[in-house]
This record gives sequence, C-alpha cells and structure tokens, in this order.
Amino acid sequence: MTKIEAIIQPNKVSEVREALEAAGVTGLTLSEVQGHGRQKGHSQVYRGNEYTVDLIPKVKIELVVAESRTEELIGVISAAAQTGKVGDGKIFISDVRETVRIRNGDRGDLAL
Ligand SMILES: Nc1ncnc2c1ncn2[C@@H]1O[C@H](COP(=O)(O)OP(=O)(O)OP(=O)(O)O)[C@@H](O)[C@H]1O
Ligand SMILES: [Mg+2]
Repeated sequence: MTKIEAIIQPNKVSEVREALEAAGVTGLTLSEVQGHGRQKGHSQVYRGNEYTVDLIPKVKIELVVAESRTEELIGVISAAAQTGKVGDGKIFISDVRETVRIRNGDRGDLAL
C-alpha cells in the first residue's frame, strides 16, 4: 500500500476531490495546513525593501491506496491541481506497512 500526500492550493480542492471520486477512491483525509516551498511564502515589498512573510494556507489530502494505483492517482491529482504557476503544490509518496479496519479487523488492501 502507498500513502499519497498531496499539498495543493485550497481553491483546487473541489476539482481534486471530484477527480479522485471519479477514479473510485474510497477514502481520504483532508487537512488545512500552512507551509512554504522554494519561494518561502509571499515576497512583499515594503518601503523599498523586499520581505519574506508568512506561511501560505494550503490543503493537504492524504490517501492510502493499493500500490498498483499509485502512478495513476498521481496523474489524476496533478491534472486536477495544476495551474502551471508557482505554489501549485507537491505530492509525497511513501510506503504503508499495514492498514486495519477497526470495525471488523480487515487488513491490507481489503481494509482500504
Ligand atoms: N520539501 C517540502 N517538504 C514539505 N512540504 C513541502 C515541501 N515543499 C513544499 N511543501 C509544501 O507544499 C506547499 C506548496 O509548495 P510549492 O508548490 O510552493 O513548492 P515549490 O517547491 O516552491 O514549487 P514551485 O516553484 O512550483 O512553487 C508548501 O506551502 C508546503 O506546504
Ligand atoms: Mg513555491
């Protein structure tokens, strides 16, 4: 199993969720987060000097999927979230050792 963590622009959440739904994803977790990438937040000019301020609000979508679906779903998320401008976000992929459905003890892919 694979965990896909996608950090995206908040205004892309609906599009990404609809695309994931259409792709048959059964579960996900969404959090409002703050962060920065290479631009270190907004660059703002104040009294002639450029300052770096703040963390930018983003949304993190986490989903654990069968390993065989990983590349396909990276494509689905990227296509829905991309504008081509800086700050579009990032996708992190990691291995997941086990999943347990608490209700009935299902394990692995069966529990996704
Ligand atoms: N290396 C990282 N580790 C953890 N979170 C990151 C990392 N890089 C980016 N993020 C998260 O992703 C969000 C969006 O990053 P962003 O798309 O600006 O990345 P970038 O590398 O600056 O690319 P771009 O040049 O396209 O803006 C950040 O606000 C932060 O929450
Ligand atoms: Mg950036």
